[in-house]
Amino acid sequence: MTVQLDHTSQSNAAPAATGPLTQQMIVILDFGSQYSELIARRIRETQVYSEVISYRTPVEQLRSLNPKGIILSGGPSSVYDEGAPHCDAEIWNLGIPILGVCYGMQLMVQQLGGGVERAERGEYGKASLMIDDPTDLLTNVDDGTTMWMSHGDSVAAMPPGFERLAHTDNTPVAAIAHHERKLYGVQFHPEVVHSLGGLALIRNFVYHICDCEPTWTTEAFVEEAVREIRGKVGEKRVLLALSGGVDSSTLAFLLHRAIGDQLTCMFIDQGFMRKNEPERLLKLFHEQFHIPVQYVNARDRFLTSIDGIADPEEKRKRIGHEFIAVFESESRRLGPFDYLAQGTLYPDVIESADTNMDPKTGERVAVKIKSHHNVGGLPKDLRFKLVEPLRKLFKDEVRKLGRSIGLPEEIVNRHPFPGPGLAIRILGEVSEEKLEILREADYIVRQEINRHDVYADFWQAFAVLLPIRSVGVMGDQRTYAYPIVLRFVSSEDGMTADWSRVSYDLLELISNRIVNEVRGVNRVVYDITSKPPGTIEWE
Ligand code: XMP
Repeated sequence: MTVQLDHTSQSNAAPAATGPLTQQMIVILDFGSQYSELIARRIRETQVYSEVISYRTPVEQLRSLNPKGIILSGGPSSVYDEGAPHCDAEIWNLGIPILGVCYGMQLMVQQLGGGVERAERGEYGKASLMIDDPTDLLTNVDDGTTMWMSHGDSVAAMPPGFERLAHTDNTPVAAIAHHERKLYGVQFHPEVVHSLGGLALIRNFVYHICDCEPTWTTEAFVEEAVREIRGKVGEKRVLLALSGGVDSSTLAFLLHRAIGDQLTCMFIDQGFMRKNEPERLLKLFHEQFHIPVQYVNARDRFLTSIDGIADPEEKRKRIGHEFIAVFESESRRLGPFDYLAQGTLYPDVIESADTNMDPKTGERVAVKIKSHHNVGGLPKDLRFKLVEPLRKLFKDEVRKLGRSIGLPEEIVNRHPFPGPGLAIRILGEVSEEKLEILREADYIVRQEINRHDVYADFWQAFAVLLPIRSVGVMGDQRTYAYPIVLRFVSSEDGMTADWSRVSYDLLELISNRIVNEVRGVNRVVYDITSKPPGTIEWE
């Protein structure tokens, strides 16, 4: 297939507003803080829509977004540094309420005629907030509440018309306001969980100062997404590749609701999924959702494609190529299609925008290294336009949506599962016999951690099959069989991880069941390596 991907629907230019919206919204101007995304999530927790966009957004563009309020994020620079990021100075005259957080407050102070200096003592970590003015922004925030600080600069002189709202032992000016102009600043980070009064402050800003209504709900999103999909797709046909995860399943549901049988869901079974997963997925779609799925049994093809291949990267590459080949021929068979549905989420949109810039040079920097080598990915040059109805959502919002449409918990809360599946959990060469062994061992692991109600305690918990054999004894028989490695880890994002301190009783139970019930295994070991230096997967 000669192919060309139309990326016009993806936002990759600054700013990264994700498209027209009838929702009220609070805009976050991002000055490079690691917490900008978190501010948006906190606002959305109050059921008000929020987006992160570049600090460089011109004021006309900001006005056209029609936000109910603007938040200036923190950032790594000092406002008095040469080349420090500044927003359009006209922003202060928009008449829209503004809250500056940390760097954002310092910028507000500097641009409006106050002074910012290097503090005698920086303040990092928890601080008690002493409230001087408990009106508007600090209503219902307890005097003495803990707020989380992280700054080396402080406000030395207040701009005209501003008043102090609060201070801490180390920071004489911890919160400020120009009540009339509805301009506010806080030196601390209300968005982090350690700031106990943070959510109350955010609610005050959102509801009382910006006058927002709690309209960002799952129902409102579905309604809006359906309308948007219909508007975009019209009478055209859309192809969606189901993977069995929460994103693609939720996407399928939304698209089906919007365009019915203009949607074709295709599920390519590589043969590397876990026991019963393909069957359950098909059953769910057919019987519960009544959404037809084109099932493509490509198990033999995939297994043949990695026959005799032991090198992990070569395995990944071949599985990736095979996926594309199957996808292309099947989409040709079922097509033609105009659109390809993708489960792009909001963090991907933010990351692909220019909000991750070096504040000194304005160059883009990779703040978060994304999870690597996703072989489920498609070539860049397929001739489809993209439809990405989840691109406004955070992962937890997709989960909430998934749950509300009746996706079972096993899909909603599924641990991350690599695109090449069990093929990279069998070290070295993969065979049907080894796949069968691993599927059974993995099934026991999942059964037991579910039965003991600890599934959610792990980032991932799975079995790995080693391609060696060791001696054991069963009854009076000497055995010579494979070992299974149990890999249970905790992690925030998969970039670093620690091995989980699992109870010995649970380990014993799983080990006993595996050696007794899975033919070909006579030994179970537990991996106690963190990442780094280990990786989560064994290949
Ligand atoms: P590692 O093993 O590098 O894994 O510590 C970090 C996270 O990435 C997942 N992973 C993959 N996901 N295709 C994927 O889609 C892959 O080839 C792949 N390799 C690792 C892994 O499960 C963990 O969550």
